[in-house]
Amino acid sequence: MELKGKKILITAGPTQEAIDPVRYISNHSSGKMGYAIAEALHNQGADVIVVSGPVSISTSIPSDKIELIRSADEMLAACRNYFSEIDVAIFAAAVADYKPAFVNSSKIKKESEPFTINLIPNPDIALEFSKVKTQQQVSIGFALETDDLIANGRKKLLKKKFNYIILNSPHESGSGFGYDTNQIKIMNCDGHLKDFQLKSKQEVAADIINECLVNSTLVE
Ligand code: CTP
Repeated sequence: MELKGKKILITAGPTQEAIDPVRYISNHSSGKMGYAIAEALHNQGADVIVVSGPVSISTSIPSDKIELIRSADEMLAACRNYFSEIDVAIFAAAVADYKPAFVNSSKIKKESEPFTINLIPNPDIALEFSKVKTQQQVSIGFALETDDLIANGRKKLLKKKFNYIILNSPHESGSGFGYDTNQIKIMNCDGHLKDFQLKSKQEVAADIINECLVNSTLVE
């Protein structure tokens, strides 16, 4: 696949789910993996759009190619605008699975009693894309699993109709959230697995692009 001119959507970073005006629920995603992929694609002439949660990353991607959002609802709304026109979608964001059922309009005051937050499911952006995805569009997902990496990865690939899923385990040292390195396996839609060494996230980005796009026959 020739990357020049291809329209590629990348989700990156965490989402933040508001509890009240000063508090939120989130996770430790740094956004480094998603931004490394987006930068490599941009440098190879692809027309990237990054829909990103709050991150502190300095990037060479032009600011008009980045849409900053906070919540999963905002991420879905931003991504939906591109679903019909993209050639490739890469879901690297660590989207919060749940959000508070109600967002308090004023700061919640401390009481001596235990405090419970009622959580409801967030939309699944990759799953929403799978419902409208055409044969020609390529979808790539990620899975960070503590248990049953391969079986769980396969289930996610099938459920969200990914063409490829990038698997990584936080048990591998130097791999996952916050690190500058990652050790991945790439699974294709036939369930074939390819193992990669522990590498910098820039090198991992190059491996993902080569394996899933450049050397793949999925998109011409
Ligand atoms: N994903 C997404 N929107 C969500 C949740 C996940 O787009 N609300 C995408 C992620 O970006 C990733 C893939 O789906 O590419 C798998 O994400 P993951 O969090 O591992 O899977 P979940 O389906 O949330 O399952 P679980 O948290 O139960 O492991």
